[in-house]
Amino acid sequence: MKLTIVYDSRTGTTEAAAKEMAEIAQAAGHDVSTVAVQSATPEDIAAADAVCIGSWTEGLFFFRQHATKATMDFISALRLDGTPAAVFCTYKTSPGKLLEKMAAALDERGAKTTGRFRSRGRHAPEGFRDWLESVPVG
Ligand SMILES: Cc1cc2nc3c(=O)[nH]c(=O)nc-3n(C[C@H](O)[C@H](O)[C@H](O)COP(=O)(O)O)c2cc1C
Repeated sequence: MKLTIVYDSRTGTTEAAAKEMAEIAQAAGHDVSTVAVQSATPEDIAAADAVCIGSWTEGLFFFRQHATKATMDFISALRLDGTPAAVFCTYKTSPGKLLEKMAAALDERGAKTTGRFRSRGRHAPEGFRDWLESVPVG
């Protein structure tokens, strides 16, 4: 399947996690594109069979965590029709309810978000491989 991974990364951590996710998906035989949210377009998403959208965690470390504005603005411009999706974030202390909020926003735009992953560093988040295997091949 064609998988698009969109990420927002300030200092490279989320980008590294996204790239490792792409390597895993490529090794599993998928056609993957990885794109920074700043250059992603809704068309990148429309062409995909499944999407992953990731952000670094912004907040007060234990409170008020949220995805970046660029990430949420990107999500709110999407128009999907049941596209399987996952959200992910990188964080230092706690992502709070960030993933739930991102997933709800994405589902509001018509996605079917079944994966929510967090990574405390530059590596692909736990759960990503299982999610990938769970996505129905379109
Ligand atoms: C302004 C700012 C606010 C942050 N707030 C949080 C937070 O509330 N909770 C948390 O776990 N990490 C927080 N972090 C840490 C980053 O989310 C974390 O280091 C992330 O992996 C950075 O990703 P990046 O290298 O892709 O930019 C914050 C970082 C910055 C710069």
